Amino acid sequence: MSLAESRVWSGAGKAHLATGRVGSLSCQPLTVFSAIAAPETDDSAPHPLSTTTSPVTDDSSTLDLEAIRAQYPILSRRTYLSSCSLGALSLRSEMYLDEFRERWHDMGASAWYGHWLGRVEDLRGRVAAFWGSTPEELALLPSTSAALAMVTESVPVGERNRVVCTELDFPTLAYQWAVKPEIELVILRSEDGVTIDPQQFEDAVDERTLFLATSHVFFTTGFQQDIEELARIARAAGAYSLIDGYQGAGQVPLTLSRTGVDFYTAGPLKWLCGGPGLSYLYVREQLIQSLRPRITSWFATERQFDFDLEDFEYRSDARRFELGTPALPTVHTALGGQELVDEIGIDAIVARNRALTEHLIDAARSAGFSMRLADPARRTAIVMIRHEDPAAAVRHLAEHDVIVDHRPGFVRVSPHFYNTEEDVDRCVQVLAAFSG
Ligand SMILES: Cc1ncc(COP(=O)(O)O)c(C=O)c1O
Repeated sequence: MSLAESRVWSGAGKAHLATGRVGSLSCQPLTVFSAIAAPETDDSAPHPLSTTTSPVTDDSSTLDLEAIRAQYPILSRRTYLSSCSLGALSLRSEMYLDEFRERWHDMGASAWYGHWLGRVEDLRGRVAAFWGSTPEELALLPSTSAALAMVTESVPVGERNRVVCTELDFPTLAYQWAVKPEIELVILRSEDGVTIDPQQFEDAVDERTLFLATSHVFFTTGFQQDIEELARIARAAGAYSLIDGYQGAGQVPLTLSRTGVDFYTAGPLKWLCGGPGLSYLYVREQLIQSLRPRITSWFATERQFDFDLEDFEYRSDARRFELGTPALPTVHTALGGQELVDEIGIDAIVARNRALTEHLIDAARSAGFSMRLADPARRTAIVMIRHEDPAAAVRHLAEHDVIVDHRPGFVRVSPHFYNTEEDVDRCVQVLAAFSG
């Protein structure tokens, strides 16, 4: 949101007593680095948006955590450590949602052309920049399942009818092919319950393979796969690579143009703190025009607003994969979430999440818990703590205002950049005090 626009919105005179934004919807970029408290004339001060792409740079110590945390009201109400299920709602997202609602009241359908389609493109542009792709390579769909279904309905099954995925993937991925009798589904088993060795893909993917389909980060182990290597393996066998990046985007760096991945999908709900109701589908530029989806919509055609049912022509860009009107409230909340993630920067997020994750592991270990953990080099901020009765433990934690979730056999704790070491310590203390 530009400052000029935000002034228009301040003029609306809305009061946000609970959030401390009385009479104002103004939107200033979040000052996330304490270092930029330098005087305005100091040109040497680092710009808050300037980051390198190195995932290991630990510059998170300069984050202004207080300013960041003030953006996410849940953090002052609860100890919130479940971002891999649902990222926290920010004031910035709420502000965009207010804007959406106000325009709906004020302009009704005329807001579509003047504003809302513009917001859709603002979001597409931001996500494309964050993913290291172009806006023309991104489609907006209602969910990750819908995006995966769109991919399966865009690639004809012929001689190649084998799909290789893994037992650690989120089930909705394999389900796409499990319901298609013409497909032979190969599910790779994990030897250690945490990882899949790339060699397993190398051995399984061959001239019969249509897709190598798997996750960027596994949802119950936090293990980050090398998607560049997986794309290479698929390409060498003439297969497509399809990555479910829902647990990756927003917590690990991404430059899709450099990975060679054919399809990548993720939504704003989790690490991007943008809410439910949308997902993004990346399709590699060179592929787009060769694919003709067998499910479609009026958003997918070149001359959408001619309303000529005898003149369907696929759009030349990734919007040919879209399935109708996107969830506009989520477009707005997602824009707010993405803006903040952009302002903080993925390098700082990676560094901060790494520090929090290691702190959590140390604290849990000291309290006597055992964990299912990936190797430090490929570990992300999803920590699985073994527990005999994880559902009861999670209920107990919730009764003490600590929000985490569970998967069979484990309490799942997922800190994000806005958490503190104190949040993590509190979670471990409350869990340790639970006798079950
Ligand atoms: C890795 C992964 N993929 C897919 C999904 C489900 O996505 P959707 O409900 O948008 O289809 C989830 C989670 O909730 C997930 O963690």
